Amino acid sequence: MDWGMANRMSKLFGKDGNCFYLALDHGYFQGPTHGLERPGATLEPLEPFVDAIFVPRGSLRAAIPPALKAGLILRVSGGNSMVGEDLANEELAVSVDEILRLNATAVGYSAYVGSRYEHQTLMGLSRLVDLCAPYGIPVMAVTAVGRELGQKQESRFLSLACRVCAEAGANVVKTYYTEDFERVVEGCPVPVVIAGGPKTESQLEVLKFVHDGMSRGARGVNLGRNIWQDADPEAMARALRAVIHEQAGPEAAYDLYRSASEARGERR
Ligand code: R5P
Repeated sequence: MDWGMANRMSKLFGKDGNCFYLALDHGYFQGPTHGLERPGATLEPLEPFVDAIFVPRGSLRAAIPPALKAGLILRVSGGNSMVGEDLANEELAVSVDEILRLNATAVGYSAYVGSRYEHQTLMGLSRLVDLCAPYGIPVMAVTAVGRELGQKQESRFLSLACRVCAEAGANVVKTYYTEDFERVVEGCPVPVVIAGGPKTESQLEVLKFVHDGMSRGARGVNLGRNIWQDADPEAMARALRAVIHEQAGPEAAYDLYRSASEARGERR
C-alpha cells in the first residue's frame, strides 16, 4: 500500500484497529432530519469522541469548521431523495477534483445490491475506486437497502452485498447489523463497519448490538440517529467510544452513559 493510502487508512482506524464514524450525511436524501438541522452544532460536542465524520459536501462547506480534527469521509453518491420514485436510483455525484479540494480522508458511496439500480450503482463504485486509487484515497462502500431494511437485514443477503462491494474495490464496507454477523465479516476481505438504522427504544440496545457486532468481527460503527437523536448525544458518544476503543461491555458502557448524563445534568 502506498504511503498516502496507508496514512489515510490510519486516520480511519485507531491504533487498536477499531473505528467510530459519526454519520451526518442524512440530509443528502432526507432533507433536514431531526437532530441534524444544524450539522455544525450537532457535531461540536461529539467530535472529540469520534475518529471520522461522514458528511456530504453541502453540510461540510456550510457548517463544519475547516479546523476539523476528526477524519473526513465525504459522501460522494447522490441524486435521489425520500420523496423520489426509487431511493436506489443513486450515482456518483462528486468529481475527483472536488474530493481532493475538500481534502477528504476517504469517500463514502452507496451501492444498491439486489435493486433495479444494482448495475448502475456497482459500476459507479468501480469507477470511483479507479478515480480515487491514483491519489491514495480509500473508498467506503455502503451496502444500501433503500426502504427494505427489514427484509434485507439478514446475514445471507448482507454477506453477499459486502463481498460484491469489496470485489468492486472498496477499502471498507459499511453494512447493517445482523445477529450472525461473523458470517458477514468472514466473507468480506476488507474491514466491515456497522451502520445504524432508525433510533432504537433504549441506549442499552444500541450498545449491545455494537458490542455484539464487534465481538463477531466488525471493526467499528458508522452511526447517526442513535447518537444525535438521543436525549444526551454527548453521553451516548462517550459510551459508544468505551465499547469501540476501551473494550467496555454494554452494561459498563451504559453505566458510563448514565453517569456522564447525570454529571452534565448537574452542570446545566
Ligand atoms: C447511510 O448511508 C446513511 O446515510 C447513514 O450514514 C447511515 O444509515 C448511518 O446513520 P444512522 O445510524 O442514522 O442510520
